[in-house]
Amino acid sequence: MKHSRDKRRDDRPRTSAQPTHARSGPRSMEPPAKALREPAQVAATEHLPRLSGTLPAERLPLILEVAPNADYALLDSGDGEKLEQYGPYRIVRPEGQAIWRRALPQSDWNSVDAIFTGDTDEEGMGRWRFPKAPLGETWPMKHDGIHYLGRFTSFRHVGVFPEQASHWDHMAGLIERARRPVKVLNLFGYTGLASLVAARAGAEVTHVDASKKAIGWARENQEMAGLSQKPIRWICEDAMKFAEREARRGSHYDIILFDPPAYGRGPKGEVWQLFEDLPKLTDLCRQILTPKPLAVVLTAYSIRSSFFAIHALMRDSFAGMGGTVESGELIIREKAAGRALSTSLFSRWISA
Ligand SMILES: C[S@@+](CC[C@H](N)C(=O)[O-])C[C@H]1O[C@@H](n2cnc3c(N)ncnc32)[C@H](O)[C@@H]1O
Repeated sequence: MKHSRDKRRDDRPRTSAQPTHARSGPRSMEPPAKALREPAQVAATEHLPRLSGTLPAERLPLILEVAPNADYALLDSGDGEKLEQYGPYRIVRPEGQAIWRRALPQSDWNSVDAIFTGDTDEEGMGRWRFPKAPLGETWPMKHDGIHYLGRFTSFRHVGVFPEQASHWDHMAGLIERARRPVKVLNLFGYTGLASLVAARAGAEVTHVDASKKAIGWARENQEMAGLSQKPIRWICEDAMKFAEREARRGSHYDIILFDPPAYGRGPKGEVWQLFEDLPKLTDLCRQILTPKPLAVVLTAYSIRSSFFAIHALMRDSFAGMGGTVESGELIIREKAAGRALSTSLFSRWISA
């Protein structure tokens, strides 16, 4: 019998947790080791009926690229690290995929403002080192004119995922071209850039994240962006529980973004495991769409899977709804040598 999400956490052996994914976030995303169940184990316990209806059209592989710009640039990468420009600061962080050689001279890598070292430092920012001068936790950043805060967090995060800009711009276009009121749901919303982009484009936004801290950061960004008058609901809740409740209530959305971690926890300890829970959450997303929906956008980080897997899931989940499922990878183009750094997989259903 499959455990309910609340119970799942209790019966696993505790071993020293080795973060299994490069992209961890607020405490709600720390995984107990060996917790992830392989897809095969999931399938063995429960066979949900496949939805009937014609599958949506498909377009893949689609590579969505963020190029170097005035707000953010991947300057160089190699030897397991990346050198990025976040507004005023040059930052060095680990990057497991950068197995190639660096293009810029060591002097460029030495003259940086912040380095994520991983070792804990009693004073100040924990795992960050500031070679030039001590820096505050936050600093001003901008995306396409939206002001927000960059942030040195203790999980190598800096308060934004620049590769998501491909989704933000696409979504803003859908909202503007709709020429009607649009309701957006941003699940696993983190610091809220997507929510601010949607609100500025005219949408009514619901932002859900399990972390009170992340919700606080997102609200600060709303102030910083001067978008305080815009209709954004900030909700600290487990994404699955929220979606289930919206389905019971009959609440509907025109656009749904969900960007779950491989492993996460809700505010009450609810366990999120991507391989186990994604099919159900995708089904729920379908159930809470308006009669004339625009898009459902899934991003998946650091999972042992290909975009073909989430592509197949999305096409099945939107059978009978027409539209197109586009899937592929989000990449960041490097300034120094023009190499592409893949950051995540995505699959999106678009109505038109
Ligand atoms: C990788 S981040 C999402 C990044 C975001 N989409 C963005 O572009 O800024 C994942 C987020 O999921 C949240 N999270 C983890 N488990 C969750 C759960 N069970 N329910 C809701 N949010 C959760 C974390 O707090 C974190 O902010």
